[in-house]
Amino acid sequence: MKIKDVSIRDLRSISNLEHHIFKENAFSIKLVEKLIQQNILFLKLEDGKIMKKLIGFIVVIKDREDQANLINFLIHPQFQSKGYGSLLLQETIERIKRLKEIKKIVLNVQVNNSIAIKLYEKFNFQKNSKIIENYYQSGEDAYLMELST
Ligand SMILES: CC(C)(COP(=O)(O)OP(=O)(O)OC[C@H]1O[C@@H](n2cnc3c(N)ncnc32)[C@H](O)[C@@H]1OP(=O)(O)O)[C@@H](O)C(=O)NCCC(=O)NCCS
Repeated sequence: MKIKDVSIRDLRSISNLEHHIFKENAFSIKLVEKLIQQNILFLKLEDGKIMKKLIGFIVVIKDREDQANLINFLIHPQFQSKGYGSLLLQETIERIKRLKEIKKIVLNVQVNNSIAIKLYEKFNFQKNSKIIENYYQSGEDAYLMELST
């Protein structure tokens, strides 16, 4: 497995996987394109084989002077629960910690996404008990989670 920076050449494959997983909550291809141009980190995980299959990706933007926001993160369904999400998240946290101006990483997660919540808690993100209602396009609620860097 290799972790690499996403480039505009990845737009189609990233957007296809995004829609496959997040359905009506998926970011539009236009937004993915914008995020490829403006981010702190946009990393992909690829297998090391010749076809270079996209295994997953993670997107982090700066939404305040001292704050990073992890706005998108997924692992291809065929490769979930094998440690790849942890691998990508760990690399992301390490890279953000090297950015001295960033003091905090925040993210939103669906209240019923217990696997993702467990993963974030494994990396010491704290769940804010306040529920953000109707956060997603689908009407689902979210938690805010935070990690001090
Ligand atoms: C959330 C997601 C990125 C996790 O990636 P992953 O590669 O499956 O995660 P890992 O295999 O590294 O597992 C990380 C932790 O999640 C939990 N977990 C993973 N699979 C699980 C399962 N099937 N049942 C219960 N807990 C599970 C465990 O706590 C695990 O840590 P551990 O193995 O040390 O106990 C992935 O499931 C995914 O893409 N989901 C759909 C998109 C999504 O929900 N993204 C997050 C949006 S906020």
